[in-house]
This record gives sequence, C-alpha cells and structure tokens, in this order.
Amino acid sequence: MNQQREKFSSRLGFILISAGCAIGLGNVWKFPYVTGKYGGAAFVLIYILFLVLLGIPILVTELSVGRASQRSVAMSMDVLEQKGTKWHYFKYFAMAGNYLLMMFYTTVAGWMLYYFIQMASGGFGGLDQDGVANIFGSMLENPALMAGFMIEVVLIGFGICSRGLQKGVEKITKVMMVLLLLLMVVLAVRSAVLEGGEEGLRFYLTPDFSALKENGILEVLFAALGQAFFTLSIGMGAIAIFGSYIDRSRSLTGEAVFITLLDTSVALMSGLIIFPACFAYGINPGAGPSLIFITLPNVFNAMPGGRLWGSLFFLFMCFAALSTVIAVFQNIISFGTDLTNASRKKVVFINLVAIILLSLPCVLGFNLLSGIQPLGAGSTVLDFEDFIVSNNILPLGSVVYVLFCSMKMGWGWDNFMAEANSGKGLRFPKSIRFYIQWILPLVVLFVFVMGYKSLFFS
Ligand code: PFF
Repeated sequence: MNQQREKFSSRLGFILISAGCAIGLGNVWKFPYVTGKYGGAAFVLIYILFLVLLGIPILVTELSVGRASQRSVAMSMDVLEQKGTKWHYFKYFAMAGNYLLMMFYTTVAGWMLYYFIQMASGGFGGLDQDGVANIFGSMLENPALMAGFMIEVVLIGFGICSRGLQKGVEKITKVMMVLLLLLMVVLAVRSAVLEGGEEGLRFYLTPDFSALKENGILEVLFAALGQAFFTLSIGMGAIAIFGSYIDRSRSLTGEAVFITLLDTSVALMSGLIIFPACFAYGINPGAGPSLIFITLPNVFNAMPGGRLWGSLFFLFMCFAALSTVIAVFQNIISFGTDLTNASRKKVVFINLVAIILLSLPCVLGFNLLSGIQPLGAGSTVLDFEDFIVSNNILPLGSVVYVLFCSMKMGWGWDNFMAEANSGKGLRFPKSIRFYIQWILPLVVLFVFVMGYKSLFFS
C-alpha cells in the first residue's frame, strides 16, 4: 500500500472538502432551474426521497472503496477486486465522466466569475429586467469573453491543487465553504421575506402533484434521479478520492449523512433565495440554465446595499463552483499520479491544457456552434454534456459501486461492511443487504430505462 499518501489534517477538513465537492453549481444553479422546470415542491419531495434512499448508501459505498483502496478510481478497483475479475475497467468510464463534467462546469463557473465582476463594478446598476437579461445574452454571444473566464477558472483551480492537498485544497476550500454557508443563510432570510414573493414560496414548498403529470412522471423521476446523484457527486469516484485521504477513526455512514445534510441544506436555501425572487419579478421559474443569471441581479438592484450583497453573492457562488472544480481536479490529478510515474507538476500541466481545450465546445455551443442542438431544438452542447454525465454516467456508475460492494464476485459485502463500519459513529445496517444488492440497483435501472423511454420515444 502507498505509505506516502497525503492525508487531511483534520476531520473537519475532510467533511468540508467532501461537502465542498458536493456543494457546487448543482445546488445553486442547477437545483433551482431543474426544480423550476419540473414543477416545484413535488419535484423537491422526490429529489429528497432519492437522496435518502439511494444517495446516502451509494455515498457510503464510494467512500468505503476510496478508504480501503487508498487510491483514486483509476486504481481502486484494481486493488480491491477478486483476482481475474474485470471491475477495474470501470475506471475508463469514471475517468471519462470526470473530464466530461469539467467540460461544461468550468464554463458555468466562468459565468459566475463574470457576474461577480459585473456586480462589483456596478455593471448592473439601474438596469431593468430586460437590461439584466441582455447582459446574459450578450455574454453568451461573446466566445472570447466566455473562454477568457473559463480559462481563468481552470488556472485558479489547478493553481490551488498544485499547492498540495493540505496546503492548497484543504486550506482554501475550508475557508470558502464556511463563508458560503453563512452567506446562504443571510440571503435566504432576506429573499424569503421579499414583497410579492409569497407565491414563489408556495410554488417551492407546497406540492402540486398535477405538475408531475404535466411533465410526465417518468421524466420527472429521471430528472430527480440525475439531480440527486449530481448534487452528491456520486457515481464516478469524485467523492471516493476523499475517502482515500482519511484514517479509520470514524465510521463512514455518519460522515455520509453529514455531507448529505450540508449539501441538501444549501440546495434548499438556494430555492428559498430564488423562487420568491422569480415571482416577485415576474420571471418564469422554468427559464432553464439562465434562471439565476436573469433573476438575481434584479433582486440585488432593488435592495438597499444591493451592489455589495450582489457582489458577495456571486463571489460565494464562485466559491461553491471552485470548491467543486478543485475537488474534481484533485481527482483528475490523482488519476495521472496513480496510473503513471509522471511528476505532479507534469500531470497538472498536461491536464490544464487538456481541460481548457476540452471546455471549448461548451463555450462555442452558445455562439459559433449554436447550430449544434444535440438534444432537440434549442438545446446546447452544455445540455448534452450535462445529460451524459448526470443522467447516464452517474446513475450507471453508482450501480457499479453498489454491486462491487455487495456482490461476492466484487469486493464483497463483508469487506465493505468492515470498512464502512470501522471507527466511531453511525453503523451501516447489516439487515439491508438485500435492499442494497437488489432493490437499489433495480430502482436506479428502472428509472434510467423508463426515463430514456419517455424522453426519446414518446
Ligand atoms: N456535486 C457537484 C455540484 O453539485 O455542483 C457536481 C459534481 C461533482 C457532480 C463531482 C459529480 C461529480 F462527480
């Protein structure tokens, strides 16, 4: 076993960095717009159900594989699998997923950075709703601008990672996460009492199941599944890597519950910030990926001290996005160092160039390549890349993790239980083996297959 592996300096570090990986654009950008698109509170209920019934156990399996193997997903199954089995091929699928995620994530993180700078420099001052929407529109039309911010995100992310696990990733992410959590609470309270926002709260908090029928229940389930897995970062080893940096003093179920609670509270608070604002300013909650960018500047414009609050908000959105970018970059760097003898510096450099190039299709998909609409009229390269990751790689990868941990021909249930339960804290219940090995994978596969059917064949 690799004795030289770096470790986190504290449990808090581990929790905040894992939460930092989980809490990101999925919570503050995607959760509100997907919830808006699929009808509000009823969607949120299904999403929470999936988090508890599927997400938490999967999170435990991933963390266990990471901690037991002391490797990233590029080598973890090679270390743990039974001789002669082929689980390790999963690495290609998972690694591709991490790259694909970054291919669109860096672009949206760049939007946040651009918005922060616009806010701070007073660029939204005095604009009405159309004016705000125009700023978003003209940003999308400008490939050089978007590429510039995307590149900045990649440089910052790799810059922090290249300082090492404790001195870079842990030190910076810890501070960013604490600040983010505090600011979210303040803004959620502020927005929830916005005049004219009550209808937004109703939309968000009172389930209306007819909204599910409107969108097709199977499609809604598929979307909730993708969102639940996306928000927890499960299914492609992005969380497993952090299991590999901790010791056995704590059992993993407790840690998984904690991470899920933090992640879910940030998502729910984002909803509290955005939906009252949508209704107060007459913006359609189903607007899609542009939702927070065309809604929130209006809120800040109408607020005393709005420029300051707005700048802080977008700065902290940058933190949320960056903490995830840093986490996934750390994972990507460890693919390189696990698989080759190359130095960390070299791995960082190669990946930095690769990710900038790979992110270009998403940037160009909004302008020069906007003719490419892979998921039907009006869809973009971003939508397509997101769909492949959230609705394909994450659910299928999660099934692989679960089967690997529960099947005899994988790593095996007893090994998994021993790892998950070593240390103090909540135990993973023995009695749910049947559920984990059979029901959970079948539920995921069912939603996956039916979701495809309803999206593409009905
Ligand atoms: N959980 C992250 C977010 O909510 O933004 C996104 C993510 C990170 C998904 C890592 C998947 C992953 F492996």
